[in-house]
Amino acid sequence: MTEPTIVVLADPEACALAAAERIVEILDVAIDDHAEAHWVTTGGSAPAAIYHHLATSPLREELDWRKVQLWWTDERFVPTDHPLSNAKIANDILLNVAHRSGQSGTGGLGGDVVTGRSSGVLIPSDQVHPIETAVAIGGGHDETWAAHHYAEVIQADGPDTNDDGWPAFDLMLLGLGSDGHILSAFPGSPAFDAPDWVIGVPAPTHIEPHVPRVTLNPALVVAAHELIVVSHGASKAEILQAILKGERDERQLPAQLARRPGATWFVDRAAARLL
Ligand code: 6PG
Repeated sequence: MTEPTIVVLADPEACALAAAERIVEILDVAIDDHAEAHWVTTGGSAPAAIYHHLATSPLREELDWRKVQLWWTDERFVPTDHPLSNAKIANDILLNVAHRSGQSGTGGLGGDVVTGRSSGVLIPSDQVHPIETAVAIGGGHDETWAAHHYAEVIQADGPDTNDDGWPAFDLMLLGLGSDGHILSAFPGSPAFDAPDWVIGVPAPTHIEPHVPRVTLNPALVVAAHELIVVSHGASKAEILQAILKGERDERQLPAQLARRPGATWFVDRAAARLL
């Protein structure tokens, strides 16, 4: 079999729940196998609803989050508290940092003052590895500096490398760009020829937001043990058809790197219309 598993569900909410359940399953198997799980997550519109499910009962209790190492596939070159930041979505919803610090107005222990329930998964902070854009910006460095820095962090704390020397994450979560990109590897990206694990990307002009990025090398999509791709909405129908049913041309349609065994695509009916 050379094709991924494609799961078509009613709507974006159903995709988010199914993706969240699958994330827990994959991370749990990895923890059973080698005592920790390296999850590299993504940005864009897909993660927020997924994080919400992971951060609340029952999924929150179904995994030993203390064994998870959290990474990012790519980041916009903005500070980590900027609305465009991919790390911010996880800080706000998945980790619920404000809640845990007792500074959110929800009570000193971070629980809801009315129900007593708390939310946010308890990944130790030294196992959360955002791409350090704020450090780069504060130090007057550019996106390439941030990329080199992140490669060093992966080298130090990341997963083992495969036979080709690429770090092999247990799970990579991906969204699909309207031009067929994944990570911040856009069609025709020079990242395909780069030897570096992480690469600085000039601000794209053809797709928003127009800010520089930092991205993992596309080779890491191939190296990852399991992939989950989430895509929804009628506007993704044509590109999804090209990626999953069209001729393979990964340099022009980078998301085709995720058209492989070990990948599960959760798509809603609107996006799946042409499949
Ligand atoms: C980013 C990404 C990117 C994203 C796709 C899909 O920072 O933008 O990580 O690869 O996943 O662009 O984004 P949407 O889900 O918002 O269409």
